[in-house]
Amino acid sequence: MSRGRNGLRLHSLKYMLELTSRCNLRCGMCPMDVLTRPFEDAPWDMVEDVARQMKDLGLKMRYLHEMGEPFLYKKLPEAIDLFPGVCVSTNATLLTEEWGRKILSSSLSKIRLCIDTLKPDVYPIVRKGGRFDAVVENIRRFLEMSKGKKITVEIQRMITTQTHDESVKDFREFFRLDKYPQAVVIQKTCEGLDTSEVTELHQAYYGCFQGTPYQWFVILCNGDVTHCCYDYDGTQKLGNVRESSIAEIASSPFLDTIEEGFRAHDFGKLPRCAECFKNPAAKPPLTDRIWRYAQAFPWKDPFRRLLNLPNGEN
Ligand SMILES: C[S@@+](CC[C@H](N)C(=O)[O-])C[C@H]1O[C@@H](n2cnc3c(N)ncnc32)[C@H](O)[C@@H]1O
Ligand code: SF4
Repeated sequence: MSRGRNGLRLHSLKYMLELTSRCNLRCGMCPMDVLTRPFEDAPWDMVEDVARQMKDLGLKMRYLHEMGEPFLYKKLPEAIDLFPGVCVSTNATLLTEEWGRKILSSSLSKIRLCIDTLKPDVYPIVRKGGRFDAVVENIRRFLEMSKGKKITVEIQRMITTQTHDESVKDFREFFRLDKYPQAVVIQKTCEGLDTSEVTELHQAYYGCFQGTPYQWFVILCNGDVTHCCYDYDGTQKLGNVRESSIAEIASSPFLDTIEEGFRAHDFGKLPRCAECFKNPAAKPPLTDRIWRYAQAFPWKDPFRRLLNLPNGEN
């Protein structure tokens, strides 16, 4: 557990800062469509303040997104420079040559380009609003521009019921990655947002994949902090960085509410957890309980992958 006597153990958490909640796509698997908070940008003074506090506390920002498309944030290169080692995940629709140049002259060490599939007919279902050919062109150009630079380029493959037959090898060959040693293919499974959701992209999953409530420290663009990377609307708020310091938020009274809820399996005050633990028995399903222990082992990805096979479990 990442909670000690004095609150969250800040050094054991993973940090995300959402620069904007605006997005130019409405991907099939993404909760952008159901977001109830405003579409807006993080105020620049807040971004600077978070960077200052994290530096003083010796903490490292991992991602510059929760929801939203980071390339819609005008000061993206400046934000990157405030957080050494940060990764930017993008739908790559806006990665023009000009943006490529700007990004490559920032300190960015890792970028994730989410094309998700190589099937032109599946792409518009997964990445609703994007143009397959344009994204392929953007990625190919960026691979060329970033060659020999100190940056890791991740190309994301999303495993869904329609893409399970694609492979990392297919992606490597399609983008000729043998020519680009800075590039790798990463795989991700597509997850439902609640235990009962089955869509054309994914099978139902069995509950809180993160297993324990304290792994993340997610700062939304309005300053609200949530402890869960699935809590896209910030319904389980620990505090707000515009009102309290990170250190103060680490001892939020809401932590007691979380623990009481988990102990009693009463998610009345935890709407996000309630989605993940939607279950008539008001108990996490057996698979979820197993999952909590399974987290200690490095089999997370193969296990998730299995769930996305057609006719797979669930
Ligand atoms: C919410 S997006 C925000 C950043 C950017 N717009 C992008 O698409 O990379 C961040 C990541 O969440 C992933 N994502 C969205 N919905 C998901 C789901 N249901 N299951 C798994 N990953 C999901 C996307 O593939 C993307 O890699
Ligand atoms: S581009 Fe990213 S934030 Fe936008 S809808 Fe797609 S996955 Fe969600």
